Amino acid sequence: MAEHGRFSVALSGGNTPRNVYSLLANEHKDLPWERIHIFFGDERHVPPTDSDSNFRMANESLLSKVPIPESNVHRIRAELEPSAAAEDYETQLQAYFRLASGDWPRFDLVFLGLGEDGHTASLFPGSDAINETSRRVVANWVQKFQAFRITLTFPVLNHAAEVTFLVSGESKAQVLSDVLKPGAIKYPCQSVQPEDGHLLWLLDQDAAKLLRPEKPPITVQ
Ligand code: 6PG
Repeated sequence: MAEHGRFSVALSGGNTPRNVYSLLANEHKDLPWERIHIFFGDERHVPPTDSDSNFRMANESLLSKVPIPESNVHRIRAELEPSAAAEDYETQLQAYFRLASGDWPRFDLVFLGLGEDGHTASLFPGSDAINETSRRVVANWVQKFQAFRITLTFPVLNHAAEVTFLVSGESKAQVLSDVLKPGAIKYPCQSVQPEDGHLLWLLDQDAAKLLRPEKPPITVQ
């Protein structure tokens, strides 16, 4: 805010962030919502009223409960055809970040989740979008869902100032321990490496249960 008078955040979808958004709504109504701009990291190819919609989840748990101007909520219009929805979001990003051709938007904060297959946003293993290096938003066909998703691409995620993964639950423990092991990139989420930004993993105990320190902690008798 002090730096550029407004704050841009890309929200993640799925289940894990729902409680975070509710806490924000319930405990932080006093934030300067008039200067906070909400974007989405990805969206399912469904209308905003659909129970699968990330917008709907964020709206029910946060946006409808805080005094944020409607014009500050930059939704992925996933009711459109997938490529039209991606193009529309591209246009929204260009307008908000005043992007010239070849520029990347710099979000102040990006929230991400982690799937058991190592996907993040809608950047799924084996899907075309994980290799995208020039576009900012794409419509990505996801084989296992036989459906399109609209998602920000890795270059956009990696130009953010802050990227925060929210990972919760035992079902994520195995992939998390693999993902955080140093070594070759095996999972899409490992390609999230902010170029000039900070990467934070927020984990609960269950998700972190397989993360063993290399050496047992030294206990002083
Ligand atoms: C989505 C998300 C996706 C999500 C992970 C984890 O649209 O589904 O953006 O990347 O963060 O799938 O989902 P859960 O939090 O539901 O486990």
